[in-house]
Amino acid sequence: MARLAKVPPIPIASGDGVWLFDEEGNRYFDTVSSWWVNILGHANPRIVSAIGEQASKLPHVMLGGCTHEPAVRLAERLSKRANGHLGHAFFASDGASAVEIALKQSFHSRAIKGEKTKEKFLCLKHSYHGETIGALSVTDVPLFQDAYRSLLNASYVIEAPDSRLNNEREALDALKQLLQERHGEISALIIEPLIQCGGGMVMHSSNYLRGVRALTKEFDVHLIADEIAVGCGRTGTFFAWDQVSNSDWPDFLLLSKGISGGNLPLSIVLTSDDIFNQFLSEDFEAGFLHSHSYTGNPLACAAANVVLDHFDEGLTDQLSMQTQYLADAFIDFASDDRVTDVRQCGMVVAFEVSETVDNFAEKFHVSGRRHEILTRPIGNTVYVMPPYLITREYSEFIVDALSKTLNETLS
Ligand SMILES: Cc1ncc(COP(=O)(O)O)c(C=O)c1O
Repeated sequence: MARLAKVPPIPIASGDGVWLFDEEGNRYFDTVSSWWVNILGHANPRIVSAIGEQASKLPHVMLGGCTHEPAVRLAERLSKRANGHLGHAFFASDGASAVEIALKQSFHSRAIKGEKTKEKFLCLKHSYHGETIGALSVTDVPLFQDAYRSLLNASYVIEAPDSRLNNEREALDALKQLLQERHGEISALIIEPLIQCGGGMVMHSSNYLRGVRALTKEFDVHLIADEIAVGCGRTGTFFAWDQVSNSDWPDFLLLSKGISGGNLPLSIVLTSDDIFNQFLSEDFEAGFLHSHSYTGNPLACAAANVVLDHFDEGLTDQLSMQTQYLADAFIDFASDDRVTDVRQCGMVVAFEVSETVDNFAEKFHVSGRRHEILTRPIGNTVYVMPPYLITREYSEFIVDALSKTLNETLS
C-alpha cells in the first residue's frame, strides 16, 4: 500500500474506444484492455445502449427459481458456438468463481459416480487461474500464493510447454508419466489454452493441446479449458479451442473478462452432457449447489449478447487484419537488442526486456503514462493486449510509445 503514495493511481474520468482520459484531460491508450476485459473498447455505444435498455426492463433477478431471456439466449448462442458439445451453462460473476465452479463440478460429479479417490487437481507451471482459495490452489505464481500456502489444497504441477523452449514433446511426456502414475487420484487438469497469460504470456501450440486432450481422455481426467483471458477472440478465433478441434471439446470451458465487453462482471462455465447428467437427480445431495447473488445478471448478459452480435457480424475476420497490423508494427522493434523473445498469438504481443532494472514493471508503467500508454508489465515481460479496434496507425502509435518508454526506463 505504501507504494500508492509514490505512484498514485490515475484518476480516470472517462473512456472512449481505445482511450482513457484522466480528470485533467490527459489521454492514455489502453494497451492492456484494462486487465484484458474491454475487448470492444471503452464506452462501446452498442453495449451501453443494450445495457440501458435492459436496465429499464429488468436490471437484476436471481437465477434461483427464476430465469430470464438474456441469459437463456446467451447460453444457447455459446452452446451453438461449441457445436452443441458444451450445451450447459452455469453462470457466475467473475473468473475465479468460474474456476471454483468447474473444480467443484468435476470433483462432485465423480463423487456421485463413486470415484471418491479422484480428489486432486493438476495444473501447469506458471498457471494463473485466479486468487480465491480454490483457484489459487491450481495457480503456480508464488507471489500470489506464498502468504496463503497453508490454506491451499496441494495440486500436482507439471512442466509447461513454452514456444521459446521448443519443449512440447517433453511437456507431453511429463504429463503422460504423471497420469500413468496418478490418474486414480486426479479429477481434472486445468489449462489456459494457447497462452498462459498471468504467468508471463507463455505460449504453446494447438498441437500440444491435442496431445493433452488425448491423454486426459486416455486416463479419464477431466479437462478444464480456462478461456477467461484467451476466449472471446483474443487468440484470433472466438474460443481458443476453435484452433484445436471442432469435434473434440474439453469437459469444461470457462469464459469471463471479454464476454461482457468489460462492462459488467460475468462468468460462464460451459460443460458437457456427461457432466450435467451426473447431477440430474431429485436428491438434493446430488444436486450442484453453488450460488452467487449476481449470478447471470441480466445487464451483464445483455452486454454479452452484443459482444456475440459482433462475432456473428464477422469480427474474427477483422481480428485477422488487426493481428497483421500488430505483427507488421513489431517487425523492426524485434531487432532492438534491449528486447528478446518478441512473440505473438492473435491479439497478444509480448516481449522480454533483457536488462535488469529494479522495479522494472512499475518504472515502465509510470514512464508509459508520459507517452500516452497504459501498460502493466508482468516482471520483465511487457505485453500488448489491446481492444479489438486496432488500425495500422494505432499499431504504429503503440510501438513508438513502447520504444520511447523503454528508452526512458532503461536510461
Ligand atoms: C486465465 C485466468 N483465469 C482466471 C482468472 C481470474 O479472473 P478474475 O480476475 O475475474 O477472478 C484470470 C484473471 O486474470 C485469468 O487470466
